Amino acid sequence: MTKVPSISIKGGKKLPLIGLGTWELVGKACTYVVEKALDLGYSHIDTAHLYQNHAAIKKAIKKISRDKIFITSKLILDQIDFKRCEESVDEICNLALKELGTDYLDLYLLHRPDRSKPMKEVLQAMHLLAEKGKISYFGVSNFNIHHLQDMLNAGIQPSANQVEFHPYLYQKALWDFCKSHQIQLIAYRPLGKGALLAEPLLQEIGAKHKKSAAQIALRWSVQKGIPVIPKASSEKHLKENLNIFDFKLSDEEMSLLDRLNRNQRFCKPEWSDFDY
Ligand SMILES: NC(=O)c1ccc[n+]([C@@H]2O[C@H](COP(=O)([O-])OP(=O)(O)OC[C@H]3O[C@@H](n4cnc5c(N)ncnc54)[C@H](OP(=O)(O)O)[C@@H]3O)[C@@H](O)[C@H]2O)c1
Repeated sequence: MTKVPSISIKGGKKLPLIGLGTWELVGKACTYVVEKALDLGYSHIDTAHLYQNHAAIKKAIKKISRDKIFITSKLILDQIDFKRCEESVDEICNLALKELGTDYLDLYLLHRPDRSKPMKEVLQAMHLLAEKGKISYFGVSNFNIHHLQDMLNAGIQPSANQVEFHPYLYQKALWDFCKSHQIQLIAYRPLGKGALLAEPLLQEIGAKHKKSAAQIALRWSVQKGIPVIPKASSEKHLKENLNIFDFKLSDEEMSLLDRLNRNQRFCKPEWSDFDY
């Protein structure tokens, strides 16, 4: 079993530098992949109400001692009855806990921003979940600097911001902002949903280290101290993605990879507010 290094998030809890993304994994296939991942050494499982796989993950995690895994889930604003925001957020969290068969989540994120909705109240309600012990941390996802600044101005301190982050989308200013406000950045879609694997520089650097383009892309983030959550559905990919802690990219290789940035997003749905 691979031992995965972790980082400490504000408050002391350890977050592994690599976790398993589970978007598009459902039913038996999801249970199989999560079980396999846990056997191999993954301990962070990233899910969301939207992924509709809480129950499948429950089956995979039931044999593991709860304190050995880190579970992230996410709620969306559309789930919330704003007339009774606090109660509604509490009920949605209870649903996640029941579906996952656990009595707490390690990290609960507001999946995406929507400035037409009362995000401040929602995050305050999520903060209360942490006070009640139903979650260890609350955070956000798909927030840029302005969204974060608005929340900080309102006295709300999210612990994490999960965003798309990889060499084609090196969000350096957002990362610096998060660091300076003790908000842990987490890199989703770290392989650009597979698109980065054809990048010649990743392949070239990979050849030097006897690693694949995927491993170089993941190593680039984790070497910066940014946890990644690639999704994989085969044992081969799960193993390969985990096998990134036995080598180091040189400073020169890191800066060459930094320069691949093209501000290219592979996740830009209609709800996005990335230009705010
Ligand atoms: N917060 C948000 O709004 C948000 C948005 C998007 C994603 N996410 C999270 O981030 C996770 C990862 O993002 P993603 O699933 O969109 O994309 P991704 O992890 O960048 O890419 C997944 C794709 O790469 C392939 N792959 C994985 N490892 C590989 C390897 N070693 N070699 C070659 N191909 C490999 C997978 O194939 P196989 O499946 O065949 O292994 C899959 O097709 C999601 O599952 C989800 O948990 C969050």
